[in-house]
Amino acid sequence: MSKYLVTGGAGFIGSNLVERLVEDGNDVVIVDDLSMGKIENLDCIPKKHITFYKRSITDFGFMSRLLITEKFDYIVLLGAVASVADSVDRPAETHSINQEANINVYETIRKHALRVKKVLFASSAAVYGDDPVLPKKETSNIVPLTPYAIDKFSSERYAIVYGKLYDIPTVCTRFFNVYGPRQNPESPYSGVLSIVQSCLKTGKTFKLFGDGEQTRDFTYIDDVIDALLLLLSTPEAKWDVYNVATGKRTSLNSVIDSFEKATGKELDIVYAEKRKGDIKDSFADVTKLKGLGYMPKYDIESGLKKYLELTVRD
Ligand code: NAD
Ligand code: UD1
Repeated sequence: MSKYLVTGGAGFIGSNLVERLVEDGNDVVIVDDLSMGKIENLDCIPKKHITFYKRSITDFGFMSRLLITEKFDYIVLLGAVASVADSVDRPAETHSINQEANINVYETIRKHALRVKKVLFASSAAVYGDDPVLPKKETSNIVPLTPYAIDKFSSERYAIVYGKLYDIPTVCTRFFNVYGPRQNPESPYSGVLSIVQSCLKTGKTFKLFGDGEQTRDFTYIDDVIDALLLLLSTPEAKWDVYNVATGKRTSLNSVIDSFEKATGKELDIVYAEKRKGDIKDSFADVTKLKGLGYMPKYDIESGLKKYLELTVRD
């Protein structure tokens, strides 16, 4: 049994991770301000094994005290404003959450010489921006187009540099576009497939930014959780960054088409201008992670099928 800290643990990826960690016999402390996450996301998890703090990770004093007193074995930094578009609207505010709060964690570990088995920081495919070379390898050019991408890149570099300088076992993931149950569809800044799913269900109009020909490497949540557990439990995965994706490229139009076929419903679409800073094409080379034993189990069809099966009773 190990003790974990998961920031953003009431969010989409966080709550799915916490569920698996508790199933595997661990205790988990969660810090989430519920700005996007939901306490109900934790309903199915036995309360005995989780401690929840509704706090902001930008409360540096609180976070430092928590790290010093709890002495976590593993720390997973998922707490963030996950929307690229939101960072374009609120660059300074999102910077303190998406970058400064993470440095506070690394700095507390350094200053107090805390012994941690692994610190994992969730970075993003957004760091690759619009560089035309595809698929994106970990060695590809970094072309951040938004405050979100800058903060993700900076936080991952700090994780690696703090790791090497002060001997802290850090590792970073660059998630591509993750989808699945518990992704909150309620904000205009939500992940696109959660919004599509919700619009199909309720009959609301979906606003499509651009022509729908933008492509993404849509990745089902279960594959992401497998990747996280693999990286946390592999000591050699240290001071490094790994793409986490399916390795397949799908356009938004085509994924909407698949949703419509799977549900037998037609999405009511209104078109709008492409969003500022939006990436045109994104998909991953996952050879590096496969080298550690990762094998994605879902393609877009099987992922959507499972997503729809699990959300139909919501
Ligand atoms: P999410 O919004 O569901 O989860 C983020 C969580 O962080 C939310 O529960 C939110 O309430 C919480 N949070 C936000 N600001 C906070 C603050 N100041 N203090 C405490 N908690 C705060 O998004 P997600 O999809 O689960 O993303 C998890 C992580 O993975 C994020 O760091 C995101 O940037 C990264 N990521 C996600 C994707 C994706 O496709 N979903 C891809 C790349 C990277
Ligand atoms: C997503 C993630 C981000 C992650 C990145 C990695 C979210 C909210 N964003 O960003 O955390 O770092 O992948 O690749 O989880 N769109 C519409 N209509 C909508 C919403 C979106 O047309 O209502 C379009 C967007 O303009 C974009 C595409 O759908 O072209 C995907 O948008 P979004 O789900 O926000 O994802 P990314 O910006 O790729």
